[in-house]
Amino acid sequence: MNITVNPQSPDTIATEALAILVFEKDGLGAEPARRLDAATGGLLAELCHSDPSAGKAFETTLLFRPAGLAARRLLLVGAGKAESFTADQLRKAAGAALRYLKNHGVHEFVLAAGGSFTLEARVQAAAEGLWIADFEPDSYKTDRQDDRRIDAVALAAPADPAAQAALERARIGARAQNFARELINEPANRLTPSELVARARQVAAETGLDLEVLDRQAMTALKMGALLGVAQGSDEPPALIILRYRPPTASPSAPHLGLVGKAVTFDSGGISIKPAEGMEKMKYDMAGGATMIAVMRALAELKPSAPVTAFVPTVENMPGGRAQRPGDVQTTMSGKTVEVINTDAEGRLILADALTYARRQGCTHLVDAATLTGAIVVALGHHNVGVFANHQPFLNHLLDSARRCGEKMWPMPLDDDYKDQLKSLIADLPNVGNRWGGAITAAMFLKEFAETTPWIHLDIAGTAWLEESRPYMPKGPSGVAVRTLIDLAQQMSDWATLSG
Ligand code: BES
Ligand code: MN
Ligand code: ZN
Repeated sequence: MNITVNPQSPDTIATEALAILVFEKDGLGAEPARRLDAATGGLLAELCHSDPSAGKAFETTLLFRPAGLAARRLLLVGAGKAESFTADQLRKAAGAALRYLKNHGVHEFVLAAGGSFTLEARVQAAAEGLWIADFEPDSYKTDRQDDRRIDAVALAAPADPAAQAALERARIGARAQNFARELINEPANRLTPSELVARARQVAAETGLDLEVLDRQAMTALKMGALLGVAQGSDEPPALIILRYRPPTASPSAPHLGLVGKAVTFDSGGISIKPAEGMEKMKYDMAGGATMIAVMRALAELKPSAPVTAFVPTVENMPGGRAQRPGDVQTTMSGKTVEVINTDAEGRLILADALTYARRQGCTHLVDAATLTGAIVVALGHHNVGVFANHQPFLNHLLDSARRCGEKMWPMPLDDDYKDQLKSLIADLPNVGNRWGGAITAAMFLKEFAETTPWIHLDIAGTAWLEESRPYMPKGPSGVAVRTLIDLAQQMSDWATLSG
């Protein structure tokens, strides 16, 4: 789908459809709706007046052959309350317009949206919303209705170089997010750890990023006992994918961001096997890894000023004659020993070794993303990523990035009181705590391996997969955290303020 900027007055553009935003109570809000209202002889104001629900968030009203406009159709998209209208609300409303028109036989349209933020913010948010909404998860349907598609959207906005730059930023971010969604959507018979390696290799070839892959032998030499223990039940060989971005001119004092992503291509639970109901969902247990590969792909284009390295441990968690058993003790790369109480708590095991490896590679800051616990879904539902950190200033940067990108993230506690739940009779740590606060004890476990490095953990188990479609997003893989992490990496030049 092609998105362009069109500086013409929207009432004069000949198009299949013109989409505009209307607000609760206020109706038209400011420009461009007022000008369009005048062009239509007051049609819009009258409609908003007679239908108070027209402005409610993502409500849609379609008119044919609107008088006074060159467009064949006029779509009013509700954008909620004018006083709480943010770039994020615009992103979603743009997406809702796209999904509505796509389902109603339109192939090309113009979006005219105002808002009291800068032209760049407006163009970037609208374009992101459109590209993100355009994703379809039906990749293996043989009767795909290819006529249900949007080819082009024009944003009604001044032809300013700043608008072009914003469009380009939006394209890179949304493309990365959709790339992560493609990987996450793949079934586990097609996307094995080896296939994920192949996809990462393709990214490296296309972007010039440096790729290194540690195989079982290399990981054995590095004594990654926790990662290898999870992998041993599967016939699919494990790997640790490493993608490196190095800036053209890096100052030696620049921080080095390490992005660690859980990529369990299928999580059956292992010997502590999961119930059949919903087990098919566990193909998305590689969403954290997909997120990091996608972020790297975008950074290769955006070229931030500090080095970034992604570490993606990828395994399949299966039961079998070679599988690890509850009660087994594994020695991690860090030297710490772990008693595997539950083989279904495998994410933290593979992340433990990946975090240790990332530290030894010289990363000064670490972020991991993982579909780590069902408990985070209980705590936060499907709307907020659970965030855990051992360093407040670093966390503040991440939360700023998340806010800018319209991705909801909620800080969770990580105090030492929870550590009492991580006691093993035989080893340094068990891999699970008790029933309570499961997302926190999982994060506490990881914290042991982040040690003194500033570190943030994103538990995306509740947000990486949408169970229900939204007006601006189909159900299925969400690609959450991709844009936030791209933004975070780009803020790194200012990270001098992080010391302390
Ligand atoms: N991959 C799961 C977590 C998960 C649950 C992701 C629901 C997405 C949706 C993880 O490996 C897991 O099985 N966690 C266990 C941990 C427990 C055994 C301590 C869980 O949350 O039940
Ligand atoms: Mn599991
Ligand atoms: Zn898992």
